[in-house]
Amino acid sequence: MTKAFHSSGDVIADRRAGYAKMLAEGGDHGAAADLMNQALELAPDWAAGWDLLGGYAEKSGDVSGAISAWRHLEALDDEGVFGAALKLAAHGAGKAGTGTAVSYVEALFDQYAPQFEEALLGKLGYQVPALLDTMLTVEMAKLGIERFADMLDLGCGTGLMGVRLRDRVDFLEGIDLSAAMVAEARRRANYDRLEKAELVAFLADRAPTADLITAADVFIYCGALPPVLAAVVPALRPGGLLAFSLEAHDGEEPVFLRASLRYAHGVAATCQALADAGLEVLRFEMATLRQDRGAPIGGMLVVARKSA
Ligand SMILES: C[S@@+](CC[C@H](N)C(=O)[O-])C[C@H]1O[C@@H](n2cnc3c(N)ncnc32)[C@H](O)[C@@H]1O
Repeated sequence: MTKAFHSSGDVIADRRAGYAKMLAEGGDHGAAADLMNQALELAPDWAAGWDLLGGYAEKSGDVSGAISAWRHLEALDDEGVFGAALKLAAHGAGKAGTGTAVSYVEALFDQYAPQFEEALLGKLGYQVPALLDTMLTVEMAKLGIERFADMLDLGCGTGLMGVRLRDRVDFLEGIDLSAAMVAEARRRANYDRLEKAELVAFLADRAPTADLITAADVFIYCGALPPVLAAVVPALRPGGLLAFSLEAHDGEEPVFLRASLRYAHGVAATCQALADAGLEVLRFEMATLRQDRGAPIGGMLVVARKSA
């Protein structure tokens, strides 16, 4: 799935949008928003144009202008590819649906896939697969586990978690919402089975066969944790391990949607959700997961075990 970013269908509107992009790249988001407004007078049904306008307005500090643009976008974005509802909800102007915003996340990572590793590992100091690997290695030693017979990597992306754990897993399966991310993972030829799938739907009716389920930087797109754990835990065999990360926040709410359009979870609510789901926490660490817009993103890293 791709977003129709490139053309409005009107040559002059495209030219104005091109100038707006240049202004935004130079840091003048207010002027970029003015030009996008002019472009959209000529091409009022250009969904990607409204998305650009919303982004420029937000960056210039004009939140009400951004909200107005995202409301136009919402009316045009039938499939939810642009995440208008999420953007409105993140700015207190609407409610996000429950669970993953499937079309938005799919389109986001389909676009991101070719530069994902360079951007995340190179520029943003992405740590999650390495940190989960270290925690799992310690727990494996403590529990006397040498290998996992059956591992399922949820939201496997390009396969960074698989790279870390392949030599300790007999059968390695990965699933991801984004076909382009799955294609990158397939190029590595590291997984025994890969599938494009949404994780909650994929896990429905699955037999409890996994010894290890991983989800590195994935549940941050899925909203509330209890429904996710309710889908994941039945797929673990008794005594099986779950290793995952979440972005953390210090507030009272169990979960809230950040302006980044990723969910942040509360620590107490996360511990409660794990206990309610029948998971015993073996390791729980707070750490910097990566950088975002120049700031460290703090998160939780969890290794938990399903009751035997
Ligand atoms: C930040 S990337 C992390 C990829 C990989 N786990 C890693 O650590 O490199 C998040 C991935 O989760 C996938 N994803 C998000 N929500 C999902 C869902 N509900 N079902 C399946 N995949 C999902 C995205 O498509 C994306 O590839």
